[in-house]
This record gives sequence, C-alpha cells and structure tokens, in this order.
Amino acid sequence: MTLVTDVTSRKAATEAPLIDPLADRWSPRAFDPDAVVETETLRTVLEAARWAPSANNSQPWRFIVARRGTAAFTTIHDAMAGFNKEWADSAAVLIVNIAETADAEGRPRPWARYDLGQAVAHLTVQAQHEGLHTHQMGGFDAQAIHDAFELPGNQEVVSITTLGALGDVDQLNEVLREREVAPRQRMQLEEFVTVGR
Ligand SMILES: Cc1cc2nc3c(=O)[nH]c(=O)nc-3n(C[C@H](O)[C@H](O)[C@H](O)COP(=O)(O)O)c2cc1C
Repeated sequence: MTLVTDVTSRKAATEAPLIDPLADRWSPRAFDPDAVVETETLRTVLEAARWAPSANNSQPWRFIVARRGTAAFTTIHDAMAGFNKEWADSAAVLIVNIAETADAEGRPRPWARYDLGQAVAHLTVQAQHEGLHTHQMGGFDAQAIHDAFELPGNQEVVSITTLGALGDVDQLNEVLREREVAPRQRMQLEEFVTVGR
C-alpha cells in the first residue's frame, strides 16, 4: 500500500471510475484558519442539501450554520469532544445537522435521519466541487447544542459538519498529523455487496 504524504491530493484508489468530487472528497482536520467561505458558495453548498431526495419529500433536515468568529460558532465548538475541539476551530464554517423526527402534528418521520444523511452527503460533494473540504463528526454533546439553540422536541441534533479550505498539515499536533497522512482504506466491494440469489 502506498503511503500518501501529499495531503492536497488524497484521491480515492477506486475500483471503478467515479466523478471527481466523489473520488477527491476526504475529511481533513487541518483547515485554513484564515479562509472565508463566500456567502454565494455557502448558499450553493446548502442548495445541494436542499435538492436531496427524502421520504414523501418531507425534507426533514435542518441546519444551523455558524461562521468562525461568531458566538454561534463558539457555542458549537464548546460542545465538541476534546479530540474534535482541538482541530475544528480552524474551519471557516460549522454546520449542525439536525433531523426533524416528527412533523408538526407529532406524526413520526422514520426516515428523518436517513434523509438528513443523504442531504449532508449531497452537501459534502457539492463543497468538494467548489474546491472546499468537509469533515463530519459525531463526537460532541448533542444535548448541549439542543439546549443552547433552544431546539424543539421533534428536532434531533445528529452530527456536525466542518466546512472550509484545506490548511497546512503542520498546524496539527503529531497524532493528528499522522492520521492526516495515513493511507485511506475501504472494504472491497465484494465485502458489502451481495448479489441476490
Ligand atoms: C457520522 C460521522 C461521524 C464522524 N465522527 C467523527 C468524529 O467525531 N471525529 C473525527 O475526527 N471524524 C469523524 N468522522 C469522520 C470519519 O472518521 C471519516 O469520514 C472516515 O474515517 C472516512 O474518511 P474520509 O471521510 O476521509 O474518506 C465522522 C464521520 C461521520 C460520517
């Protein structure tokens, strides 16, 4: 296996051809601490989420978007687990990914988390196409964010996406630096695809 040390290109070694934003996407921890995501670009990235499919077209995703330097950014960053706190403050934007798990009448939306994940996936691919990077995380206190933003009971904080421009790997501590350049691994297709009997 080849060790990838050029973190500007961590292109996936795919077994079948992919469109560039999918092959190029990876999750860095070194974001450029000075980069700003233009409002137009941010809108484009969120527009990709908007056009994701969802059960019954219910669109049960909600996003809290916070730019670096704002109080909302600090609130979200404060809720992160230490390991994530260490690197995520260099991202230009933090996005809290929320699933609305029941409608206004209290009827459950069983696919809300699935739909949210799909919307986030669209967002990450569009971000890559815009020359940006994303890194999703589950390591944070979801209840703290729910409380801080006074979210209603039918909204579940599921994950956070960091969004920004790629930074310098040397800004990371040694442990994170090693992970940043470690070989990217995936299961083989045969391990997770079953051909119907
Ligand atoms: C739901 C979810 C939760 C994740 N949680 C974390 C996390 O807390 N901290 C972290 O550094 N990365 C986290 N990741 C990033 C994954 O570790 C990463 O996507 C995976 O290792 C594949 O690497 P790649 O995105 O570069 O292809 C998370 C990703 C997802 C989708």
